[in-house]
Amino acid sequence: MRPGPMTTSPSTEAVPAHEDLTTAPALEVAGLTVTFTGEGRRATADVVALRDVDLRVAAGEFVAVVGPSGCGKSTLLRILAGLTPAGAVVAARTLTTPVDANGTRTTAWMPQRDGLLPWRRAWSNALVGARIAGVGRAVADERARTLFDAFGLAGFERAWPHELSGGMRQRLALLRTCLPGRPVLLLDEPFGALDAITRRRMNAWLAGLDLAGHGRAAGAGRAVVLVTHDVDEALLLADRVVVLSDRPGRVVLDLRVPRGDPTSARQALLEALDPQGGTGASGGGEVRARRGPRRRGRGAAARAARRTARG
Ligand SMILES: Nc1ncnc2c1ncn2[C@@H]1O[C@H](COP(=O)(O)OP(=O)(O)OP(=O)(O)O)[C@@H](O)[C@H]1O
Ligand SMILES: [Mg+2]
Repeated sequence: MRPGPMTTSPSTEAVPAHEDLTTAPALEVAGLTVTFTGEGRRATADVVALRDVDLRVAAGEFVAVVGPSGCGKSTLLRILAGLTPAGAVVAARTLTTPVDANGTRTTAWMPQRDGLLPWRRAWSNALVGARIAGVGRAVADERARTLFDAFGLAGFERAWPHELSGGMRQRLALLRTCLPGRPVLLLDEPFGALDAITRRRMNAWLAGLDLAGHGRAAGAGRAVVLVTHDVDEALLLADRVVVLSDRPGRVVLDLRVPRGDPTSARQALLEALDPQGGTGASGGGEVRARRGPRRRGRGAAARAARRTARG
């Protein structure tokens, strides 16, 4: 791992109290370029995963990131989590990842692969992050009980990871990510393995997050960055949708989701994802979009609530 030139600006905790939280970034990268060098991978050329990416996520915002497979979404999320992928050279004008007053990261990252520990039962896997984060046993147990129930995992507390389905593993991984109560969630395709009904339930849970707020004031310092291949999921949940181009990924569209009818926003996203116009929504491309207009559901209500909370 060779660290590249990088400037890290002060944590969001350093933002003066009088500054409007809606304009203070929870996360920010500017001019981010990430290259995987061919070194150590015999005769393999360098791969530029991301080029000159700018992304600013304000406190209280929910941002979805979509883009073709291999365009650097997971790489971007890792960088936002403050992790440099092995073999990567990272260059950025600005790279702000939030930390609290003690210098502890306030991000919780859910990797694309669930990363469950095979030698620990589901309950123990769920608690591992919270214990590392210093959450007290009683509080962690209470949160875990609530989330096992909310995520449809009740009864599987003592199961080993290999005894869970792919979708159950994914829900357990999300549960583990949320349990420490960190305000900034970085979720890498958390619902890819779920059936439509379970996905809807999990979407609804995520949409209600700011209202639940882990005991914090709604929106204060909180943010979600969600990587998804599902355009409709992005439109349903997010305040903004960022579209990355084919590799090297760069931002080709940064779209604020309109309050009303999302039809034109959906069209703009599909065009940005497929500028050649060939595959798009139904051509079997990597990015999925359900047919037909989306209905205004709990996601829209949650977005509206977040906007109201931000004034
Ligand atoms: N550790 C690594 N070493 C070398 N190359 C890597 C590494 N991680 C990612 N890459 C390369 O960087 C590019 C971006 O990968 P990344 O996983 O970020 O894409 P992605 O947009 O998340 O794709 P997907 O939608 O399929 O998950 C790819 O070309 C990949 O081969
Ligand atoms: Mg990925």
